[in-house]
Parts: sequence; C-alpha cells; structure tokens
Amino acid sequence: MAVDVLLGLQWGDEGKGKIVDSLANNYHMVARFQGGPNAGHTLKFDGKKFVLHTIPSGVFREGLLNLIGNGVVIDPVILQKEVRNLEQMGIEFRDRLLVSRKAHLILPTHRYLDAASEASKGTDKIGSTLKGIGPTYMDKTGRNGLRVGDVTLPDFEEKYRNLRSKHMRLLRLYPDIEFDLEREEDAWMESLELLRSLQHVDGEYYINEMLKAGKKILAEGAQGSMLDIDFGTYPFVTSSNTITAGACIGLGIAPRQIGEVIGVTKAYCTRVGSGPFPTELDDETGETLRREGAEFGATTGRPRRCGWLDLPQLRYSIMLNGVTQLALTKIDVLNQFETIKTATAYSYDGKITDQLPFDLCDIQIEPVLEDHQGWNQSLDSATDYEELPAAARQYVEALERYLHVPITMVSTGPERKKLILKGMNTQG
Ligand code: GDP
Ligand code: IMO
Ligand code: MG
Repeated sequence: MAVDVLLGLQWGDEGKGKIVDSLANNYHMVARFQGGPNAGHTLKFDGKKFVLHTIPSGVFREGLLNLIGNGVVIDPVILQKEVRNLEQMGIEFRDRLLVSRKAHLILPTHRYLDAASEASKGTDKIGSTLKGIGPTYMDKTGRNGLRVGDVTLPDFEEKYRNLRSKHMRLLRLYPDIEFDLEREEDAWMESLELLRSLQHVDGEYYINEMLKAGKKILAEGAQGSMLDIDFGTYPFVTSSNTITAGACIGLGIAPRQIGEVIGVTKAYCTRVGSGPFPTELDDETGETLRREGAEFGATTGRPRRCGWLDLPQLRYSIMLNGVTQLALTKIDVLNQFETIKTATAYSYDGKITDQLPFDLCDIQIEPVLEDHQGWNQSLDSATDYEELPAAARQYVEALERYLHVPITMVSTGPERKKLILKGMNTQG
C-alpha cells in the first residue's frame, strides 16, 4: 500500500484540514509530517468548529490512528491545550494518538529567540507566528535539539539545562524584549506530564509495518509549497520542507511508497506575514476577498493578504510536489464577482515569463491577468458537480486545462459536507 500525501500548494491556509477530515475515512491513519503549532487547520461539522495546530486532522474519525511524525516540532504546552480542548468537547482519541520519539521539542527559549530575532529585523521581519519554529529547526539541523524520546530519559533535565543556557547566551545577540521566561518555563515543565502520558512510537517502524500489513495512510502537510524552506519565497518562508519530499523525511517512508499527491489550492490566493505575493490586491477587490473568505489567521488572527489565483505559481508547486489531483477550495468566496481573474504569466524587466524568478523578493513583478466570467449566485444548493452553475464549471475546467492536473474535489463552504467530488481518484 502507498502513502497518499495531502498538502497546500500556495502560502498555507488552503483548507487542508477540511479536506483531510473529509477524506480521512478512506484511510487507517493520518500522519502529520512537518511544521508545528505555526499551523492552524480548521474543521467544521455538526455546527462545531475546531482548530488543530499539532494534532492531525483525522482525529475526529472514530477508530482512525493519528501520528505526529518525526518531522513535526512540538510545543508540549500547545499540545496539552489541544488535547484538553478536544477532550472537553467529548472527542475520545488518546488511544489513537501516536507521537514519534524523534519529533523535536519547542522550548520556551526557542519562542524567546524567535521573538527576539523578529524584533531585531525591524521592517525586514518574516512575519513569523512566533511559535519558535525557526529556532527549533535550527537546533535540529545544528544537532542540539531535544526530542520527544528524551523526556523519558534520566538525563533529560540536564539536557534541557544545557540547551537553555546556550539559548540564553544567544539571546545576548539581540536587543532586550519582554518575555516572562519563568512563567513560560513553569507551564512547559508542567505540560511534559501529558506528553509523557501519550503513546510514543518509533514512527518510521510503525508506519512501514502498517504499509506492509496493507493499511492506508494519508500524510498531512502543514503550511504550503511557497513557504518551503528550499523552494518558497526565501527568506519569507517557514523552516521545514513543506513539499511531498518532506513527507518521506518527516515520516521515514521511501519515495517509492508515495501514491496519490493531493494538492490543495484556494480558488484565489492568500498569504499571511511578509514577503512577495505577485497577484496581491491592495484594493477594494482584495478587501472583498478577505471579507467574503473570512481571511483572518487561524493561529494568530492576523488579516490575510488576498489576491487572484496565480497559475504560474501553482504550476511550480505542482511540479515540485508531483501533484496527481487537485482540491479546489473556497470557490464560494467568488460568488459575487462579475469577473474573476487569474494570473497566467509575469511581466518584469520588459519580459513576459511563466517562471518565478530567483530574485522575486527584490524586484517588482506584475501579473499578466486573464478574465473569467463570474457566476453571481450562491453555490449552496449544489451537491454534485453538474449542479454547479455553468460559469463555475468553466472556471474549474479552465484551471484544469492550464494546470494539466484533474480537479477531483471542489469545496463550496467550510463545513465537512460542502465538498463536491468530481471523478475522484484516491485509493479509498
Ligand atoms: P489550513 O491551514 O489549510 O487547514 O486552512 P485554515 O483552516 O487555516 O483556513 C481555511 C479557512 O477556510 C478555514 O476558516 C476554513 O473553515 C475555511 N474553509 C475551508 N474550505 C472552505 C470553502 O470551501 N469555503 C469557505 N467559504 N471556507 C472554507
Ligand atoms: P497552515 O498549516 C499560513 C507563515 C507565517 C510567516 C512564515 C514563517 O495553517 O497552512 P513561522 O512561524 O513558520 O516562522 O512563520 O510562514 N506561516 C503560515 N502561513 N499558514 C500556515 O500554516 C503558516 N505557518 C507559517 O505567517 O509568514
Ligand atoms: Mg491554516
């Protein structure tokens, strides 16, 4: 059996959580493979709303296993909050939640360093979620990090103290900022009790045994391809590999085990934080997208920047990820537009290109826009692809022609039920 991968193709917040939840019943396990509590994955069903940061989005499906993979960075305080919130809402999942021993831990001083580093950058700041993601991955690659498995070892306290004092020395490089380290540290130490009580596994063995036994696994990405540390709009990116290759690293599966790659994209585009965004709309239209799409961060509440769908950017993400099918989300947000635009190329330096330039962060590129007819009506009554208005179908099919990948899912609202399948091709 193969591992199907589901990931975001833009700058995050594409609606991954909703699609994972919708597909989860086709699988035996959902496994998060990278990122940390910088992610906010929203799920809505039965009139309830949940936002998950660390816990995989398969948790609401009875009997389904959920693995926090080795590629994820965990803040035990946030994990504890998530577990307690879910339990308070009556979700029973502890015996179905597995945590890789090799996942790295976010310490309070990682968050302190994140905040100090951002503060020192002034107007060049990344716009980080300040969850300590960058410093934690730096310690991982710098071979200094603490991992989940360490919390049960006798020398854990000593390892913690050593890393903390290294961080305190590093903090002297930055101007002073407000950070109540003592309080944060007390909460962190207390939260380790819950982390210790969860089921720790050698995720790579666990997942490969499952594959051998014919079980189906869905790997859940966080962030989006344009936030990938290698291929995103560097340096305005996150600190992990968000693309399909990251699923191999972040779970311990071989590349040839990858099956379907489901790319999730909004029907328009958003980004939160700093950095280039070629199709950004700084006007009334952008404002309308933000309002209609309720585009405010699920983790930080920040307003998201909005713009038209960027097709050269999507093609780039499709190429990097080997996307085999697309889920198009939030198409309903376009309901009231007479005309919808998409970028088909970029213009800069007197040239037209469909490739993202290396120096994207330093130059001004203009999108070349194409018009599509809007549908000007609600999509609420459509449960079947053929029931969508003709103009909406024409939009979907124009995207397919340009991207050369089938759109197998069209999401028309935040709720679980608002998902139209179109010639679906998962293994489920
Ligand atoms: P994720 O990080 O990729 O899981 O996405 P987020 O949860 O951060 O952001 C997506 C937002 O859009 C959430 O508020 C979802 O409830 C909402 N959403 C998802 N799909 C749709 C859709 O098809 N239509 C609308 N209007 N909202 C959607
Ligand atoms: P999900 O999984 C949208 C952005 C931040 C910032 C940059 C670096 O919900 O799609 P970091 O905290 O990683 O140092 O921030 O990346 N970012 C996201 N934007 N959705 C996310 O996750 C994000 N995770 C990080 O806004 O610009
Ligand atoms: Mg999100």
